[in-house]
Amino acid sequence: MHAVAIVAAAGSGSRLGADRPKALVELAGRPLVCWAVDGLRAGGVAEVVVTVPAAEREAFAAVLPGDVRIVDGGATRTASVRAGLAAAAAGADVVLVHDAARPLTPPDVVARVLAALAAGAPAVVPVLPVVDTTVLVDDDGAVTEAVPRAPLRRVQTPQGFDRETLVAAYAALPDGAELTDDAAVVRAAGVPVATVAGDERSAKVTVAHDLALAELAVTLGPSGTVTA
Ligand code: C5P
Repeated sequence: MHAVAIVAAAGSGSRLGADRPKALVELAGRPLVCWAVDGLRAGGVAEVVVTVPAAEREAFAAVLPGDVRIVDGGATRTASVRAGLAAAAAGADVVLVHDAARPLTPPDVVARVLAALAAGAPAVVPVLPVVDTTVLVDDDGAVTEAVPRAPLRRVQTPQGFDRETLVAAYAALPDGAELTDDAAVVRAAGVPVATVAGDERSAKVTVAHDLALAELAVTLGPSGTVTA
């Protein structure tokens, strides 16, 4: 099974307060995007395509391994993945879509996603349970009801897809439509989405506190982790 990964790395990093695209912000001395690429390869991905802000191609080329393909991203994550998918090798059997903003995703998670695809799932996402009490609120912020959390899951990346399924789902998605992840794109096309266990180490780096936690996780090593 030939697996190609698309790493979405064309975001700005404004919520992180960074002076460069978030994917180029360093974690323990290496850009986030480099960590993400390494995790994918260690988990069994053969080829990697990274979508970047068009104005930053050279900066990405300077830090990424030479065999990683660099593609201009778009104004939204959906547009960036669409561009990456167009560039991904037609010879791929499966495509994984990953966020550069999840630098410490363990190779085990990647391997679980690939195994589910190899077993025949057309689409699969890594998930974690919701551990906090979860409620609905009205327009004033007052609690209206508690949501039963047993069936709730937090969805992470990398998300895996049969390549033809993902290509067809993106082709059916209207131009300009913006969905929060790629599983939503295939679900909109009626494709069932399976789940595998995610990992707390796959946490997304969004604000400065997340980066500080990621630095701590690198320092602590695997012993400081919680797995679903
Ligand atoms: O902003 P957020 O962290 O939710 O973005 C998730 C991922 O999508 C990030 O890795 C970011 O670089 C990527 N992205 C993208 N193109 C955009 C916006 C975000 O590739 N236009």
